[in-house]
Amino acid sequence: MQLFLDTTDTAVLKDLVTTGLVDGVTTNPTLIAKSGRPMAEVIAEICGLVEGPVSAEVAAMDVEGMLAEGRKLAAIAPNVVVKVPLTRNGLIATREFAVEGIQTNVTLCFSASQALLAAKAGASYISPFIGRLDDHGADGMELISEIRAIYDNYGYDTEILAASIRTPAHVTAAALAGSDCATIPPATFEALFKHPLTDKGLEQFMADWAKTGQSIL
Ligand code: G3P
Repeated sequence: MQLFLDTTDTAVLKDLVTTGLVDGVTTNPTLIAKSGRPMAEVIAEICGLVEGPVSAEVAAMDVEGMLAEGRKLAAIAPNVVVKVPLTRNGLIATREFAVEGIQTNVTLCFSASQALLAAKAGASYISPFIGRLDDHGADGMELISEIRAIYDNYGYDTEILAASIRTPAHVTAAALAGSDCATIPPATFEALFKHPLTDKGLEQFMADWAKTGQSIL
């Protein structure tokens, strides 16, 4: 499973990249606004920090605008993936990007039928928003399972990128449901390492080791 960070915080990204467990990054207009930096600058920096895919989202709503913006974003670095909203125009643009060899991440997906259309349009990634569905009393993880089944039924290459992740349990459930990737807020990524029994067990191991008076080196 590919694990991406959902962030534009390059300081945090630099730290977590040292784990060797970060496979890519996703951003969105809200995260770009939060960075307080010019989009091209922060995307270029992120692309230099990770080898894997870095999603950068268009702001235009019309096809020609999406294509112009997407081509400009793709030119920032080879690992830029152009993010487009799951709208009729977004999927028309996705099809053209596929023809041009530009990787795409179709975002704001909330139904299996939307995901089916994105795969038919040649999307590289589809981003179903689990947390936001849960926030509205729906079952976000059920959507991941439905998309997995549909994509496997027809052999679609589009990769499922579980998004709007809120907890480590979301990551586990997405992996069990067969998602290809998950994009995770940094705080949730950090929480993946943690378990109270690990801390307790390590404390006991260290206490018992200290009693031996030994040194391994
Ligand atoms: O960036 C895409 C997605 O992960 C954002 O989800 O619900 O945390 O804004 P959310």
